[in-house]
Amino acid sequence: MGDRFANKNALVTGAASGIGRAVAVRLAEEGARVACLDRDQAGAEATAATLGHGALVRSCDVLGGLDVLCNAAGIGRFEHFGDVSADGWREVLSVNLDGTFYVTHAALPALLEATGAIVNVASLAGLRGQAYSASYCVSKAGIVSLTKCLAVEFAKQGLRVNCVCPGGVRTPFLANFAPPAEADPELLARLNLVARLPEPEEVADTIAWLASDAASSMNGVALPMDYGTIAG
Ligand SMILES: NC(=O)c1ccc[n+]([C@@H]2O[C@H](COP(=O)([O-])OP(=O)(O)OC[C@H]3O[C@@H](n4cnc5c(N)ncnc54)[C@H](O)[C@@H]3O)[C@@H](O)[C@H]2O)c1
Repeated sequence: MGDRFANKNALVTGAASGIGRAVAVRLAEEGARVACLDRDQAGAEATAATLGHGALVRSCDVLGGLDVLCNAAGIGRFEHFGDVSADGWREVLSVNLDGTFYVTHAALPALLEATGAIVNVASLAGLRGQAYSASYCVSKAGIVSLTKCLAVEFAKQGLRVNCVCPGGVRTPFLANFAPPAEADPELLARLNLVARLPEPEEVADTIAWLASDAASSMNGVALPMDYGTIAG
């Protein structure tokens, strides 16, 4: 493992599970001090306990500048559009899009001070329309747009803002995406070109690269990680 994040500070949301957890582990393995945020306190503590390097479980303002922010916390579900309640719509938008806004807004001064990098976890769902997941798609399209807006607004200050757009990833999250009753199999078949799913560590590998100096020219990118699904 390299040391691309030696002496760097990182903040990872959704760090208790799946992609966020894998990102926290990866950044710490490469030398970062990682603050782990999650509504699942016990899970975040479990992640932090594996990291060393003075890992923290809550957001804190004692970091002297923030080098990496990864917004991975998110929720989603499959349901017929007619079954989407106003509360359910609001919940998905609130966690995924508003949550990304709140954390990014709070972290921005420290990120600018350190000339850091943000990597948001969007989704392939943010790049196209998908059946049975309107609230999720809209929330992720919002994250793609927020990523590009911030990339442009802060480019001159050296802050880079990118996002990854995975198709499916093998995490507990997928349990929420059981097809709804009477789902059209043709529409479900459009979701992924190949049956393979990446492990969260593979996504974390790409996120770490985007956050590192090796990706210094990458800004405003929404990177599909979908085995070619959206290519054709
Ligand atoms: N797994 C997939 O197939 C897949 C595909 C594309 C994108 N994504 C995105 O990747 C991100 C991570 O998902 P994952 O697959 O690792 O899922 P996961 O369920 O394993 O992890 C998500 C984490 O987010 C946390 N979280 C949820 N709501 C929160 C809130 N309000 N405040 C703080 N923490 C909260 C959960 O407690 C959990 O630890 C999500 O944004 C998801 O939309 C996942």
